[in-house]
Amino acid sequence: MRILVVGGGGREHALCWSIAGSPLCDALFCAPGNPGIAQEATCLDIGAGDVDGIVAAAREYRIDFVVVGPEQPLVAGLVDRLEDAGIRAFGPTAAAAALEGSKGFMKDLCAKHGIPTAGYRRFADPHDALAYVAGARSPLVVKADGLAAGKGVVVTHTPEQAEAAVRAAMLDKSFGHAGAEVVIEERLFGPEVSVFALADGAHLLPLATAQDHKRAWDGDRGPNTGGMGGFSPSPLVDDTLWRDISTRILEPTLEAMTVEGRPFKGVLYAGLMLTDAGPMLLEYNVRFGDPECQMLVRRLRSDLLPALVAARDGVLDSFDLRWDPGAAVTVVMANRGYPGEIHPGARIEGLDAAAADPQVTVFHSGTSAGPEGSVLATGGRVLSVTAAGVDLAEARSRAYAAVDGISFDGGWCRRDIAGSST
Ligand code: AMP
Ligand code: GLY
Repeated sequence: MRILVVGGGGREHALCWSIAGSPLCDALFCAPGNPGIAQEATCLDIGAGDVDGIVAAAREYRIDFVVVGPEQPLVAGLVDRLEDAGIRAFGPTAAAAALEGSKGFMKDLCAKHGIPTAGYRRFADPHDALAYVAGARSPLVVKADGLAAGKGVVVTHTPEQAEAAVRAAMLDKSFGHAGAEVVIEERLFGPEVSVFALADGAHLLPLATAQDHKRAWDGDRGPNTGGMGGFSPSPLVDDTLWRDISTRILEPTLEAMTVEGRPFKGVLYAGLMLTDAGPMLLEYNVRFGDPECQMLVRRLRSDLLPALVAARDGVLDSFDLRWDPGAAVTVVMANRGYPGEIHPGARIEGLDAAAADPQVTVFHSGTSAGPEGSVLATGGRVLSVTAAGVDLAEARSRAYAAVDGISFDGGWCRRDIAGSST
């Protein structure tokens, strides 16, 4: 098969790394890709958000199967457009991607179908939202309804903070149109875990669990980021809890989506909080996590590509995947200033030596090609250094050994990923 992966970050590098090794893959393309991905695939200079450009390229390069990495093109209807053009594609339709694209839709679905999640209200009028938070007696979480690149959620302690969050989203338009509506939820407490499953519209195939570190600095302090690293599996989710999560949250969601006329195919990525009242759904994503995908592909022993094709074709029930019973850890190396303003362009040293350990893969998140074959650090998150091990401790020490061999001016990482505080 001729495959096209859409996206250009660490998640897409991980997908290309995995798919390139499949006997089913005859030719691999990635749009737009990055210098790390270029070692696995032919990169096409087309942005992941350029729906027309991707459809045209899929035709031009006679692509048999497209794997869409990021959420924006899914919500924008890329899979619908590809399928209409007769090109098979992995990922939800725009209607099904609303699970991530509209937090209000997701909450209404849960409420209607009895899926455990925090109590909430939806607001399209800022004055109603402000009146509601002024009268609140317990801590709230204020969420922009639409896609806001992971920045649209404010967890508050006081009504004043909630009021400021409502003003920022609805009156100051900090998240543009995404904040025109907000969801205001009851704040839950407990540890957070992520679970991943493939869905084919009717069946679920569980993948793996993971935990990430969203805050920038050691000790889970500092500003929120896209994720500074993480580990898989989560030691907090045993088989009983996995089954509970599947039967109370994932399976009812798949059924509910079908009932609503939006059958869901693709990756169902649930962000959960383990509360005293059991697992509660915080959010759905409709794609692999970044950097969680990097850990998942390192732990996967089976071929990923046929499972993605089976999800698209609606035949996942016949599928089984084998996983490394050990662990994988990803440490993200970021540019100086991230998640604020960064200073891009430093030359990265030590990439080849770090990749010499077969248990380590250095996935490129935000890099570009420099002069004479050099690689430059151009993104906020630059590299996702991922290692496998028999347990978390071994994977962690391998990942940090690799990190310590890589350098670029201003490059930094958290030193406590998968550490004792987790
Ligand atoms: P979301 O994008 O909806 O997952 O929210 C981002 C982060 O905000 C989550 O990973 C949680 O840390 C936090 N969060 C979201 N909803 C809640 C909630 N109802 N209670 C407590 N924390 C929350
Ligand atoms: N690592 C969080 C995400 O991909 O949304």
